[in-house]
Amino acid sequence: MSVPEGTPEFAKEVAGCAPQYVQNIGKILYTRAMIEEKVAELGATLSHEYKDKDGIVLVGLLKGVTPFMVDLARTLSVPVQLEFMGVKSYDGTESTGDVRILYDVQTDLEGKNVILIDDICDTGHTLVAVKQRLIEKNPASLRTCVLFDKKERRVHDDVQCDFVGFDCPNEFIVGYGLDFDEEYRTLPFVGVLKPSAYR
Ligand code: IMP
Ligand code: MG
Repeated sequence: MSVPEGTPEFAKEVAGCAPQYVQNIGKILYTRAMIEEKVAELGATLSHEYKDKDGIVLVGLLKGVTPFMVDLARTLSVPVQLEFMGVKSYDGTESTGDVRILYDVQTDLEGKNVILIDDICDTGHTLVAVKQRLIEKNPASLRTCVLFDKKERRVHDDVQCDFVGFDCPNEFIVGYGLDFDEEYRTLPFVGVLKPSAYR
């Protein structure tokens, strides 16, 4: 299901958003309501999975994870610490495969129950590289959670997303943290850009 430009539902969804962004959106794939429902569902699953633990540490990957991370964290009924890592692998719409760590976690993860979270798993380069770095910190457990899984694009067989929100189509998506050249992250829905937006 998607919401194309020019429909009443599209108009309702984009109300209040920057017109400079809205004019470049061709269709909406995930509405605010769909995202909110899915995040609550993931939160309930995680709360259940970790209910007998002392707590969890969410390690989110800047900057795309920020809306998802704060929304998800607020649905959890277990103690949660928030940590971030800054990594870069994308240039425009292309995954470069070269994952650089720009900012590392600031706390000791030894013996902690860690969940690595990101907005989207695409080729898998990022999760594989970051997971490797986190394993070296000796957490008690380490699992991964992404809101979107673009399975078709996977180049790593060994990447495992333990908790997934949506399986998403092989399209470049923006909004709810996801950017194109640092723009569109603040849109509360997730959509696909018109071809003209890339020019
Ligand atoms: P991977 O390393 O190829 O799995 O890519 C993961 C990272 O690429 C994510 O953290 C996103 O920042 C970015 N990315 C992948 N697909 C998209 C997309 O469709 N829109 C925006 N960013 C994306
Ligand atoms: Mg990212």
